[in-house]
Amino acid sequence: MKLLEPIVTRRSIRKFKDDPVSDAQVELLLQAAHLAPSGSNTQPWTYIVVRSEETRRKVMEVSHEQKWMMQAPVFLVCVADLGVRIKEGDLPAINEESALPEVKLIIRDAAISVDHLVLQAESMGLGTCWVAWFRNEEIRPVLGIPDSHYVVAVVPVGVPDQTPMPRPRKEFGSMIYREKWGQS
Ligand SMILES: Cc1cc2nc3c(=O)[nH]c(=O)nc-3n(C[C@H](O)[C@H](O)[C@H](O)COP(=O)(O)O)c2cc1C
Repeated sequence: MKLLEPIVTRRSIRKFKDDPVSDAQVELLLQAAHLAPSGSNTQPWTYIVVRSEETRRKVMEVSHEQKWMMQAPVFLVCVADLGVRIKEGDLPAINEESALPEVKLIIRDAAISVDHLVLQAESMGLGTCWVAWFRNEEIRPVLGIPDSHYVVAVVPVGVPDQTPMPRPRKEFGSMIYREKWGQS
């Protein structure tokens, strides 16, 4: 059990080799996502595996044209199912500004599964980067996702062609209070 290693070595990778990512590798990543914990065990995530160059390009274009994404041979798109907590009739148009409390829980849970996937990728020598710089109104139609679902992240996956230095983090102690808010 050496989980800390991929946690420490993982970086956002934005440059990939031409090497392929196999279906078996994608399967392992999805299995890691599948086992993520979630509030009330709702498991509100679905993944779309996108290999088609045309579809990847459309996803890239609605992700503010982050051209580096196209180097990754596969995108794993995490889609959160709002229906696990909100009755269909009560579903308003959901976008990045939606204030519904359940939406936060659903996105929280789906994000945990993405983290599982990303760390599993690191342990397999694959590179990933979270991409969430898109608007749901724009990305949903590209992938035919119904309005009852919310795209949490696109994760380009590929064989890394860069070894970035660790990106800065806040000072370790600054994120910890003891016993009470504000108490170091
Ligand atoms: C929710 C989320 C959204 C992100 N969206 C993008 C993105 O659209 N494009 C991008 O290049 N990086 C994106 N990132 C990557 C962050 O910039 C990166 O995680 C951060 O700078 C720390 O670097 P590290 O991942 O190498 O530790 C995102 C990360 C998260 C967690």
